[in-house]
Amino acid sequence: MSVITETIQPHGGTLISRLAEGAEREQLLQTALTLPQIKVNAWVISDIDLIAIGGFSPLTGFLNEVDYKSVVEHMRLQDGTVWSIPITLSPTAGELAQLQVGGQAALVGEKDNVVYAIIDIQSIYNVDQHHEAIKVFKTDDVAHPGVQKLFARNATYVGGSIQVLNRPQPDQFQEYYFDPAQTRAIFAEKGWKSVVGFQTRNPVHRAHEYIQKCAMEIVDGLFLNPLVGETKSDDISAEVRMKSYLALLANYYPENRVFLGVFPAAMRYAGPREAIFHALVRKNYGCTHFIVGRDHAGVGDYYGTYEAQEIFRNFTATELGITPLYFEHSFFCTKCGNMASSKTCPHDASAHMHLSGTKVRAMLRDGMCPPPEFSRPEVAKILIEGMQEQSKLEEETMKHQII
Ligand code: ADX
Repeated sequence: MSVITETIQPHGGTLISRLAEGAEREQLLQTALTLPQIKVNAWVISDIDLIAIGGFSPLTGFLNEVDYKSVVEHMRLQDGTVWSIPITLSPTAGELAQLQVGGQAALVGEKDNVVYAIIDIQSIYNVDQHHEAIKVFKTDDVAHPGVQKLFARNATYVGGSIQVLNRPQPDQFQEYYFDPAQTRAIFAEKGWKSVVGFQTRNPVHRAHEYIQKCAMEIVDGLFLNPLVGETKSDDISAEVRMKSYLALLANYYPENRVFLGVFPAAMRYAGPREAIFHALVRKNYGCTHFIVGRDHAGVGDYYGTYEAQEIFRNFTATELGITPLYFEHSFFCTKCGNMASSKTCPHDASAHMHLSGTKVRAMLRDGMCPPPEFSRPEVAKILIEGMQEQSKLEEETMKHQII
């Protein structure tokens, strides 16, 4: 057996584990039966799981009041550690009536009644969600999907450490779920000293492939880490995307230089702040580098094209502990005959192939492949099949509703 060495420190220095096991878990399951309950949805369950496995290190639970205020105002926990997205728990008014500081509550799945965790309640606090929206999302426009989710929650939060008793079971692609301790061991096993993480909530198109491969020229390995938690309804489903990643990797990437594993978090669409969060979490998974391209984690026109890169300037390299790799907006240039960006291409926009996400989705829905300069045909085929399957399901549902 080779010696497993850690290549990069987790954020805050320790890879957190909040998973209760064995007799302790049995005992906590008994305790949970006696506790007031907070019902948790899929989004919160994914937060619980990422806390449990150390994806959100150094967090040991949901933010208490002082950390929440510090994160919202300064993008740091109270102790100064960089943290840009508030990870919070918001019980209903009815649930809150049963809770007290110093007590505990069981976090129970709203759909499956599974006891996911027990929280030690450190603080119960009211928040100004408009202020949170402006600070975190840079807007309080309810058309923003992250703001919409935020405003749908109760404005009283409960903070405290958690102990996790059960983990969500993925219904598919189980073999692509890895905990940070596992990815760290895998990267070490592969002998990768430098690993670049790639976040995506989309199929990998040629521009993504280009920036990944530029990064692969300078690091040992690529961790393709697509987000598969909750996304907005018009994003392409994780199921279809996973099929497309597998087809792409099989045809266009050297097997020994890429590792595919999913990121089970929900998408916040918080642009710049989410870019920092995405980078820190990938550091916990063992990445030394992280790709930030144009409008990372953005939606609509809420963020400037390179704002998600500029925000990194607020922090020192030591504080971040992971190196961001920035990429300009990339495209296929018909005159260069290859992928390029304004850094490498002298031609004007008329030679650049630009297709909006909306246009591409419309083409795919009509069964048309976007040009190979935009999307690999193997990927386009899977996306078309996925879209057609989706339309069929929607038609069936409509029919049933009409009947
Ligand atoms: S995201 O919401 O997960 O950021 P997406 O999956 O589209 O969205 O992007 C994944 C990564 O690729 C992000 O870092 C994003 O900035 C980058 N990216 C996407 N398209 C381009 C492009 N045409 N040129 C440069 N970077 C891009």
